[in-house]
Amino acid sequence: MNDKQLAAIHAAKHVQNDMLVGLGTGSTANFFIEELARRQTEENLKITTISSSNISMIKAQSLGLNVIGLQQVNAIDLYIDGADEITPDLNLLKGRGYDLVMEKLLAKAAKQFFVVADKSKLVDCIGTNFAIPIEVMPFAWQAIKKSLEVIGGIGDLRPNVAKDGLSISSYGSLIFDMTFDKSMTEGDLNERLNNIPGVIEHGLFYQLASAVFIAHDGNIEEKWR
Ligand code: A5P
Repeated sequence: MNDKQLAAIHAAKHVQNDMLVGLGTGSTANFFIEELARRQTEENLKITTISSSNISMIKAQSLGLNVIGLQQVNAIDLYIDGADEITPDLNLLKGRGYDLVMEKLLAKAAKQFFVVADKSKLVDCIGTNFAIPIEVMPFAWQAIKKSLEVIGGIGDLRPNVAKDGLSISSYGSLIFDMTFDKSMTEGDLNERLNNIPGVIEHGLFYQLASAVFIAHDGNIEEKWR
């Protein structure tokens, strides 16, 4: 078993009968979805899920999990997802995929949000290994880029994989990948990004995680907020 799978299986132990569970996106979240489906079958649990992406929804349904829409509820019991970076304060960078809006909605709606990862995701500060993804209203991208540059952002719209066009999010938006001066606190950066009109959501998940479960070399370390 690899470390991502170990963290995911550890987190799945927190799921109880009758829970409404948020499903993340990515390879670690996939291990969680598989474990959840196994527990549902073998332990005869009644579990309802909400997915952060179409790809995870399709996987969950194919394994027999019941998936409902966020429009049907105003809160969820538990959200379990991976992350791209995790700081000592449990701030996260997420959204290297195309689904950060739904991921942040689930993180906010969840009574508890557990992050599962291997130790490669641990960093001293957000932005160490990746630029911050910022999802924006497409028609306003130029004005938004100027606002991002005013607060020190350096970067551009994300190209698509073939590099012959732009990346489009699951909700039809464009995505900037931007770096910022590391002297700005994550709290400040979060607030400034939140205040730019036309920014739909960004990948800095500031003080949203309840706990992170980090697997390294077969062991689990839990960090709680
Ligand atoms: C998806 O948009 C991200 O927020 C993921 O949580 C992240 O990319 C983690 O992926 P892995 O579990 O595959 O590392």
